[in-house]
Amino acid sequence: MMLLVLTLANPLMAAVSMPELDIGQGGHCVDDPRFMRLNHMKLMLHQRDETVHQGIRGGKYSLAGCVECHASKKNHSVLGTNQNFCQGCHVYAAVKIDCFECHSSEPRKMQETGLGLVPVAGRLK
Ligand code: HEC
Ligand code: HEC
Ligand code: HEC
Repeated sequence: MMLLVLTLANPLMAAVSMPELDIGQGGHCVDDPRFMRLNHMKLMLHQRDETVHQGIRGGKYSLAGCVECHASKKNHSVLGTNQNFCQGCHVYAAVKIDCFECHSSEPRKMQETGLGLVPVAGRLK
């Protein structure tokens, strides 16, 4: 429904068809894929208390976890081309996110600590 509205609202969008998304590494999503398609944005934002304030990090909806599975086997990233998972659908849906200016768009080695899963190398990007 929302995509339909976007299509009607923006004549350019009508010419753009949904790219074939590179799902990435495979496995099973953290939730039902249809649920994820509709709700992932609500699960991950910083404003969510559970995400940052209550200290649930590296959990079910961790961004690093999404990247771990959804990074393409071709360029090891969720960004880069319009087939890449996060970028591809967002270009289609005309959604801009700035998450990967800080968070890594490539899977990285994580280690378990008292604070949850943290990247082995100390930088965010
Ligand atoms: C263990 C691997 C794994 C993890 C972790 C994971 N996913 Fe998935 N995800 C998948 C797979 C595989 C599919 C495709 C499933 C299918 O189509 O049956 C999928 C499907 C999806 C879809 C639907 C795509 C479509 O074409 O409609 C979205 C959106 C999504 N995931 C977002 C996320 C987000 C956001 C995260 C992190 C919070 C995440 N996923 C974490 C493996 C994963
Ligand atoms: C199958 C399509 C699809 C895929 C794949 C997808 N998204 Fe989204 N995403 C959307 C749509 C559509 C919206 C806008 C929803 C709205 O406006 O209510 C959105 C919105 C978001 C938002 C909220 C943006 C804001 O400013 O409110 C975040 C954050 C986000 N996506 C992160 C991700 C990440 C990270 C990935 C890759 C792991 C991903 N998405 C993959 C379709 C997708
Ligand atoms: C200005 C830099 C910055 C930007 C931009 C940013 N983040 Fe974060 N994010 C952080 C920092 C710093 C943390 C805290 C890391 C920690 O303490 O675990 C964090 C933590 C998180 C966490 C909890 C840790 C995890 O992975 O489980 C999630 C989820 C998350 N961010 C998602 C997002 C999403 C989605 C976006 C884009 C809408 C985004 N972030 C944009 C800096 C940023």
